[in-house]
Amino acid sequence: MAVLITGGTGYIGSHTIVELLGAGQDIVAMDNFSNSKPAVLDRIREITGKKIRFYRVDMLDKPGMEAVFRENNIDSCIHFAALKAVGESVARPLLYYKNNVTGTINLLELIAEYGVKRFVFSSSATVYGKPPSVPIREDFPLSPVNPYGQTKLMIEQILADLSASDSGMSVVILRYFNPVGAHKSGRLGEDPRGIPSNLMPYITQVAGGKLPYLPVYGNDYNTHDGTGVRDYIHILDLAGAHLSALDYTERVRGVEYFNIGTGRGYSVFDIIRAYEKTTGKRIPYQIAPRRPGDVDECYADPGKANRLLGWRAKYDIEDMCRDADRWQSMYPQGFED
Ligand code: UFG
Repeated sequence: MAVLITGGTGYIGSHTIVELLGAGQDIVAMDNFSNSKPAVLDRIREITGKKIRFYRVDMLDKPGMEAVFRENNIDSCIHFAALKAVGESVARPLLYYKNNVTGTINLLELIAEYGVKRFVFSSSATVYGKPPSVPIREDFPLSPVNPYGQTKLMIEQILADLSASDSGMSVVILRYFNPVGAHKSGRLGEDPRGIPSNLMPYITQVAGGKLPYLPVYGNDYNTHDGTGVRDYIHILDLAGAHLSALDYTERVRGVEYFNIGTGRGYSVFDIIRAYEKTTGKRIPYQIAPRRPGDVDECYADPGKANRLLGWRAKYDIEDMCRDADRWQSMYPQGFED
């Protein structure tokens, strides 16, 4: 029996595969390499000593995906594959709705047809939009502010309806906060295309001399130092949450939602300071205008995941900075083919 991982060569998918292989799970992975590279598969093999079954297939290619189900004995699925750039989703909404929503419907039709009952979905804290207060609990109002976030919320709704229609199904929806860091070996990490839009990969490229300085998007937010506050979570902790979620689908039926964060908020200045302290490298910055759509503060109440999944984040902000920096130093060009 195998776990199907969609988006298996992406940042979160690849780290999760390493965790699952370590736990003795049998893996079948797929990806279309739209935002990842085949070299990731070699790194997974180097780290784990195991080879996984892999299919290069696009989620809009349903016959191509069906072959994966036909040729393997799949009993659960962790669904990561999606387009995820917020700005691009505003500029090209139809691309996002088609890829993320239609692609997921194709997958779910096959899940139903092949009798797969256990499903874990990669959602995002972005579904909360601007939260009325922090820390954010799972029962807070949902109001995403961009098409990317809307696709995540639509898929959550589709999954809730699907699970209501089939009492044998078990669906876990994980709402991630801000994943950062890299594998301890330094061989696997985040490899954004072009200039990074997220904070940590931008900082690592400044630290490595690829970019001259960090633009700090706004210093007049209602936070302890004026810069935006987020809940950064180590990618290995996030990967571990998927193992716990998969385990949960074996025990409990229905649909359940979990925030996956540390419960601690750090500002942009806090992150710059932590990075400089742990790596000894200097991060020059310049204050820039606010980025549209950014909120003051966003951090999780992860209590529900702690209680029901038995999962808790282990790594602190210094681990996140140290590991992100190691990956950047070892592979300044990311994954080369
Ligand atoms: N920031 C900067 N400079 C940069 C990049 C970011 O100052 O060059 C600031 C942002 O303004 C924000 C913080 O750093 O205050 C974090 O920004 P990120 O872009 O790293 O992360 P976001 O919180 O904006 O978004 C991330 C993911 C989304 C996801 C969301 C969930 O990119 O996909 O977390 O909270 F939906």
